[in-house]
Amino acid sequence: MADARFRWAAWLGAMGLALVAAPAAAQNQPAQVTFTKDVAPIFQKACESCHRKDSIGPMSLVTYEESRPWARSIKSRVAARQMPPWHIDKNVGIQHFANDRSISDAEIATIVKWVDAGAPKGDMKDMPAPVQWPSDQDWNFAKNYGKPDLIIKSPKYTMPAQAQDAWYKPVVPTGITEPRYVRAIEMRPGSVRGRKITHHALARLQQTEASSLAATPNNGDDPGPGLFMEWAVGKQGEVARENSGKLMLPGSSIVWDIHYHAVGEEITDDVEMAIYFYPKGQEPKFRQMLSLYSGIAGGNRNLDIAPNSMSVTQNFHVMRKAGRIENFQPHMHLRGKAMSMEAILPNGQTQMLSMVSNYNFNWHTNYVYADDYAPLLPKGTVLRITSWHDNTKNNPNNPDPNQWVGWGDRTVDEMAHAWVNITYMDDADFKVEVDKRKAKLAGTTSDRQQ
Ligand code: HEC
Repeated sequence: MADARFRWAAWLGAMGLALVAAPAAAQNQPAQVTFTKDVAPIFQKACESCHRKDSIGPMSLVTYEESRPWARSIKSRVAARQMPPWHIDKNVGIQHFANDRSISDAEIATIVKWVDAGAPKGDMKDMPAPVQWPSDQDWNFAKNYGKPDLIIKSPKYTMPAQAQDAWYKPVVPTGITEPRYVRAIEMRPGSVRGRKITHHALARLQQTEASSLAATPNNGDDPGPGLFMEWAVGKQGEVARENSGKLMLPGSSIVWDIHYHAVGEEITDDVEMAIYFYPKGQEPKFRQMLSLYSGIAGGNRNLDIAPNSMSVTQNFHVMRKAGRIENFQPHMHLRGKAMSMEAILPNGQTQMLSMVSNYNFNWHTNYVYADDYAPLLPKGTVLRITSWHDNTKNNPNNPDPNQWVGWGDRTVDEMAHAWVNITYMDDADFKVEVDKRKAKLAGTTSDRQQ
């Protein structure tokens, strides 16, 4: 289960070889690091999606002249792994994700070295060609699947020039009249200006289900509608893994949850979502279901965080069918510090799947496992969600460490749950998936599951 790098480390150790602090970084460093040659390619790949004109980052990092004034701040954010935003613990659990936007230790070392050297520009002939960002007004998957089958929009919202952050939660019926399986979804603010105020947007699918798998008991708490799609900058959309998809039922609605923030000018915008169905007659074999897994012992209402304290609490969820865990998306508020998800297998073994150790409420990242790493877990597996809250003055986001804090919707209240998407299968299909995975893995050392 350990990350491949750690097995390597153990192996080197066993061979009696000394480990240097950052071997890859040390060896790959050019003598003189310049913006045009070494730093610009990293910014293009990892920063420009948000740090360019008309995007959500507070400044553009496209040219040298734009980047230079931010050098110190860039060094501290990048070295602390706060930028790019990706909070999964690099030393714990699975490290292969389909949507990883983090940068490597070697890239961090390059940026730090550049700043320490006085942030030199370098030769313009080394500068990579500018990235042509796709138009924000096209639907990307139309190339693959043709026109979207369904477009759903949130009602328009006006964000004043100055205001507190807003969480806008309108409900919009989908209008579909027969069950349909979804193979791809895209979501985006309705306009380029709207991107400035749209911090992130979530769309939940609300529908009445007969299946017992759809409802997670959560000790009597309402699990609420499942997350259907989420938009944050840098992410265009989601395609279902092969032969699997989400099912939308007649009578369903989209429950929006859009985080708007004021940017000094009044802006009105909506968020739109394009949905591509599997053609009729080509329905996928496996259905994905999204569950809210509480991380609070005894259920959400029991969350009780004393003033000036750290708190830890956990909850357990039994998988009533075998399945593949597709993602991990922790949800907490301002006192949220960390969350982990472990699998306790029917044979008693425990596997740490994922952990976010420096949770940040600004970033609702959905960590989607890469194809060959999404854990395959047998029926009867128990998922253990553990959550930590920091209600002390050491937490820079804490509005008041002297308050008792309980569960609630407001940002100053707390929550602790993970949104987890699971593709369920019967035992025979599960065995086929496990065997396929094993065949792919033969002879490799890695953190792949099963
Ligand atoms: C997914 C979008 C996104 C990506 C990718 C991203 N940033 Fe940011 N960045 C933001 C946003 C939004 C803020 C302001 C809010 C915050 O600080 O979290 C920010 C803040 C910053 C700041 C702080 C600015 C200040 O006020 O001092 C720095 C520095 C920074 N980013 C550098 C980078 C660098 C360098 C990269 C790439 C290695 C990067 N960011 C990638 C969205 C992003």
